[in-house]
Amino acid sequence: MSDQGSADLAPRVEYYDVDRFWNDLPAVVGHETRRGPGEPDEWWTFYLKRVYCTPPRKRALVIGCGNGWVERHLADIDVAEHFDAFDVDPAYVAACEQERGDRPISYFESDFRSFVATEKYDLIVNHAAMHHAQYLYRLTDQLAKALTPDGIFVHWEYVGPDRNQYADGHVAHMEAVNRAMPERFHSSSRLRPFLSAAITGDPTEAVHASEIVRAIEQYFSVLERHDIGGGLAYQMLWNNIAEFEDPADEEATEVLAALLDQDARETDDGTVPVLFSFIVAGHRPDAGASLTARFDRLIREPAREALARRMKNLYLGQITRWVRRHHLWDPRRWTRKGRMRHPITN
Ligand SMILES: C[S@@+](CC[C@H](N)C(=O)[O-])C[C@H]1O[C@@H](n2cnc3c(N)ncnc32)[C@H](O)[C@@H]1O
Repeated sequence: MSDQGSADLAPRVEYYDVDRFWNDLPAVVGHETRRGPGEPDEWWTFYLKRVYCTPPRKRALVIGCGNGWVERHLADIDVAEHFDAFDVDPAYVAACEQERGDRPISYFESDFRSFVATEKYDLIVNHAAMHHAQYLYRLTDQLAKALTPDGIFVHWEYVGPDRNQYADGHVAHMEAVNRAMPERFHSSSRLRPFLSAAITGDPTEAVHASEIVRAIEQYFSVLERHDIGGGLAYQMLWNNIAEFEDPADEEATEVLAALLDQDARETDDGTVPVLFSFIVAGHRPDAGASLTARFDRLIREPAREALARRMKNLYLGQITRWVRRHHLWDPRRWTRKGRMRHPITN
């Protein structure tokens, strides 16, 4: 076991072709594209190429590359002359090697917890990976050190509540919107996953996602940020896209369009939290130098991870929120014999 955590005891997690997500629907990809940077029909990778990578960057790093589609596509559209990409999972790295073809991509295995860059990069890409970082500030510090002064850090990622533990009011709102849709479109899944499922399934899933933007701001200079949203539709469509897949189904098309419009409106007015963001950030000469950044990286993060290791991957903040949510502090919740009056159901 590594000296920095127990996630290496967790089972291998397969990220593709297991669950079905909102962006498996073309209408959602269109929605994300409109909410993202550039022209309304310009996917972020093409925007990146047009605005930041023409001529191509010299050397790019892709972190947590998974099956490798991101760097293969970025190589195909000539975003950089050479790519390095890594993942913690040797099976993904092996599969990526197989799929690479003659693209200028070098793969290696590495873990966010111990990753140290040995090269300098003028482009670093995080696509849906950093939300697995337990040592988020340590990783961001390493990435900032690897970025050249003219380099950019590009981020497309979940930045919502940790471990998808949405606040009660947010869940109630999603439930109301879910109920208001015609019945065949209802999500039958829980709109707030069990915390226990996160811990037994993949303890790194969205582990400190809500702090990613804070970490980025400490170590990079944000050039642009586009909040894509997802606070309503992401969870409601999770494993619930079958009824929306037929393009000839007019009712489904209308219901989905209305849901995405509401998602955009309520993201922008703050009714629901932002779940996904696109960010481009540049080099920051004083990266990580502030007192807060040093406190987060050198004191708060090591302390909270050490504690979580001793508490079966539970974090103090999550425990206190859970205790508050279930009113476990309230004596009326308990019998004289110390039994709980109502069972905990979520
Ligand atoms: C949701 S997948 C995204 C993969 C890819 N970036 C994509 O967009 O398809 C998250 C990836 O992060 C990798 N990952 C998780 N924890 C990691 C860690 N500690 N160090 C490096 N990679 C990690 C996983 O193996 C997985 O490939």
